[in-house]
Amino acid sequence: HLVSLIGAPTDIGAGAKGARMGPEALRVADFAAALQSHGLEVEDRGNLIGPANPWLPPDEGYRHLHEVAAWNQLVHDAVLAELRIGRMPILMGGDHCLGLGSISAVARHCREAGKKLRVLWLDAHADFNTNELTPSGNIHGMPVACLCGYGPKELIEIGGQVPAVNPKWIRQIGIRSVDAGEKRFVHQVGLEVFDMRYIDEMGMRHTMELALATMDDNTHLHVSFDVDFLDADIAPGVGTTVPGGPTYREAQLCMEMIADTGRLASLDVMEINPALDVRNRTALIAVDMIESLFGKSTLMRR
Ligand code: ARG
Ligand code: MN
Ligand code: MN
Ligand code: MN
Repeated sequence: HLVSLIGAPTDIGAGAKGARMGPEALRVADFAAALQSHGLEVEDRGNLIGPANPWLPPDEGYRHLHEVAAWNQLVHDAVLAELRIGRMPILMGGDHCLGLGSISAVARHCREAGKKLRVLWLDAHADFNTNELTPSGNIHGMPVACLCGYGPKELIEIGGQVPAVNPKWIRQIGIRSVDAGEKRFVHQVGLEVFDMRYIDEMGMRHTMELALATMDDNTHLHVSFDVDFLDADIAPGVGTTVPGGPTYREAQLCMEMIADTGRLASLDVMEINPALDVRNRTALIAVDMIESLFGKSTLMRR
């Protein structure tokens, strides 16, 4: 496996400053070496360079729309370039608004290559707001809606086709904070959400069996990992912590079951905010989780 790390040091879509340091926190946590220890050939492409964060209030329900579009275009182009040369892109965020650039590139690559797409959205949040529904104007709360074609032209057209993604291709896991209007919209569009209550009642194993079902040899699996998916007790270094997330063991099982499919083909690691962290714990636990995502297991060797 050939892997390319792409750093996107920005918090342009977030409600707190600091996710711009996420890529460096992952490097300090020896992310590349951890991947190499599982037999991957890793190339760190360095950081993308985009507009600064002007830290302005919302304008027509969006904060920093122009800058968010510029960053997502950079991410889209970088991710698509790696896929086109047969490498697996790993986006090191940066806030989760960049999932739009990443996944729209993945969707474009799948169209070009005649592949099916499955997106696993691991998150405390549905990120399905629009400018009319959002309580904050922060665009990291909107990327899934934009991917499904609901959002401003500047954002929804980045992938070259609107919508970039069919909502039926998406599975959300770990969700436990959804705004009132956003909740109605999630139901209206029919997004498949495995929220924390579902995981509590049915268990992570059953949840992942369903979320990973009906893929075949021709399916490209993309994982968009918002690190606030993890319980805030084990991952404090994120801007929007929500209690009651997956425990260490539940999250490990989630990652291990994804690894077992052998279909992981692209990944986002988003929202690590070192300014809010404790001794880089959150980057370290993200690296630990991603080792499992790439097949680390306690006893079995692969
Ligand atoms: N739902 C909230 C909002 O739209 C929080 C979104 C958090 N998103 C994230 N990627 N951390 O403002
Ligand atoms: Mn490919
Ligand atoms: Mn998110
Ligand atoms: Mn989140």
